[in-house]
Amino acid sequence: MIIRSAASDRLGQTFTLPGDGILYGGDYNPEQWSPDVWLEDAALMQQAGVNVVTLGVFSWGRLEVADGVFDFEWMDRVVGILHDHGIAVTLATPTAAPPMWLINAHPEIMTVDASGVPTSQGGRLGWSPCSPVFRRYALRMVEKLARHYAGHPALALWHVSNEIGNENGYDYGADAAAAFRAWVEAKYTDVESLNSAWGTGFWGHTFSSFSQVNPPRVARTAHNPGLLLDFDRFTNDALLQHYIAERDLLRTITPDVPVTTNFMVMRGGGVQDYASWGDEVDVVANDHYTIGSNGLRHEELSFSADRTRGIAHGAPWILMEHSASSVNWQGRNASKAPGEMTRNSLAHVARGADAVCFFQWRQSIVGAEQYHSGMVPHAGPDSKVFREVTELGATLRRISEVTGARVSHGDAAVLWDQQSYWAFHSTRKPADDISFHETPAAIHAALSHHHVATDVISPSEDLAGYHLVVVPNLYLADAELAARLTAYAGSGGHVLVTYLSGIVDPSGAVIPGGYPGAFRDLLGIRVDEFYPLFVGETRTVVTTSGATWTVSDWTESVELVGATASASYTAAPLAGEPAITQNSVGAGTAHYLSAVLDPEALDSYLGELVEMAGIRPLASAPAQVEITQRSGARHDYLFAINHLEVEAVVEVGAAAVDLVTGAAFDGRVAAGAVAVLKVEQRIE
Ligand code: GLA
Ligand code: GLA
Repeated sequence: MIIRSAASDRLGQTFTLPGDGILYGGDYNPEQWSPDVWLEDAALMQQAGVNVVTLGVFSWGRLEVADGVFDFEWMDRVVGILHDHGIAVTLATPTAAPPMWLINAHPEIMTVDASGVPTSQGGRLGWSPCSPVFRRYALRMVEKLARHYAGHPALALWHVSNEIGNENGYDYGADAAAAFRAWVEAKYTDVESLNSAWGTGFWGHTFSSFSQVNPPRVARTAHNPGLLLDFDRFTNDALLQHYIAERDLLRTITPDVPVTTNFMVMRGGGVQDYASWGDEVDVVANDHYTIGSNGLRHEELSFSADRTRGIAHGAPWILMEHSASSVNWQGRNASKAPGEMTRNSLAHVARGADAVCFFQWRQSIVGAEQYHSGMVPHAGPDSKVFREVTELGATLRRISEVTGARVSHGDAAVLWDQQSYWAFHSTRKPADDISFHETPAAIHAALSHHHVATDVISPSEDLAGYHLVVVPNLYLADAELAARLTAYAGSGGHVLVTYLSGIVDPSGAVIPGGYPGAFRDLLGIRVDEFYPLFVGETRTVVTTSGATWTVSDWTESVELVGATASASYTAAPLAGEPAITQNSVGAGTAHYLSAVLDPEALDSYLGELVEMAGIRPLASAPAQVEITQRSGARHDYLFAINHLEVEAVVEVGAAAVDLVTGAAFDGRVAAGAVAVLKVEQRIE
């Protein structure tokens, strides 16, 4: 795999990872096993086609056995065995697991929860990114590790810590409070600006000095949304600064080794604004786990994979972790059906991953993740999981020429904004159980059903080249974004804005004068009041073409100020009022959706918009056959992933060879199968 650095400070710098195809492997935790198992592991890795493993993620306590006492001997043996078997090493800095001796000597390094309870020993992460003591110990460990393995031919990639923020997301302790005060002071300079931004006149929360500012510890009622939003931003920055500190140290010692850390782009948002992390890593790496109880989990996977590619600005990325079968943290943990792991893996590749890795190589028999699947399960290599792992390794080799090909630029873009996610969750809204995530995910799924090439991007990305830009739940927006969307539409683009977009400004204050304040002019509408529905309640809207669609959860009283109605509510209290609108903006259009459409109606509505925007689907296929395209220098590669239990007919409009089977494509994809179709680049 060739990595062209995504990091803004060494953009375009090239690194070559071993192997000329897709990286394949997983987290390897040999310290859980005896040395004779290490040899068996290496042989089985070769059998499965594994060419890379991630080593040392939780090894701090085994590498620094006492304060300042280091032992690399066992890891040297492991790295040697792997190298002898042609397996490259993604070496983790082990800072995700501070050792017992450190936590006991310095309990102040641990995060404190909002009630004042400190995190105890016994888990992982848990440390405060604001602790100078932790930082000192962490960097000493990182430096020792980097100096020890600098120049080792097996060392391919640095993996900084693990899922930073996952188990140390919010910290309310003394170090964090001091750092938060400094962050707030640096942002606002004078306390009056802070009072004005947060609106501290409410409930008389006026600060007369920055020293009075505290993290949002337990209070008996809601905290100020402006404070919560800034605490999210501060937390993201603190975590990111820790990553950068480790990264910069690694770069001074091994400048030729790329550095990354594993993101967690899945389901909703989180404590990290990954748009701000994407430019700090040499290559974007993501962990993704499907939720077994979600019948449409493959759609969530597709959305998350497209979001990950968006963070990478379209460059190939690394799937650092997913699961071979079940996880152990969802209450009921479904095993994957035969073929599901392969579909999951290839769906990530279809959306730009050039590496398919798992947590973890061998399923643990001890420790807290005993019942989390591994590539080698408890049952051993003679098992369904290992057979599928081995088959997948062979499939990845057969399709290896897709490596480096970029996913074709989208015809449609769905905007995703972490700042909006934080702001959305910072306050008590008219309907608190409306999910931030569901609207963009549902729209992405509807576009996928129509086989539209779709990107999921940050609002700051360039909108040129898209035929349709969807702005879903983009709760926080500034005038600059509104102006860019207006210019985009004015030059012939088509914009769809949904409910709960453009409501607050970057401080979290509602933009007054009628919703959605940021986008009123673009849309030619003005929303007077929200009308959330109770759970289970529905309404109908009727479109100008006579279709009747069902809506739930959320409706609004919309007034036309230049726009026309595309659909109207049929019943009181909103009878006759517009539910969906359309506005002409220069050469383009801007549409507003004021209610949650049911999935069928959303498919129909997006179908209309896709047609109006003149978008051609990537292929003709049933809705539940996922189609994407990667474009190489000489060929296009169309991925067709059949999520149906019956064979599907897929028309791609060109002669193609299926790289998975090696045969000419006859237009049929078997139930549950994946075709990777190599087609000559089609002339538009
Ligand atoms: C109570 C409080 C008010 C306000 C309302 C909101 O009545 O006294 O300050 O918070 O609830 O419903
Ligand atoms: C995360 C962690 C792994 C493991 C998996 C389990 O992705 O990074 O160490 O705990 O979850 O699903």
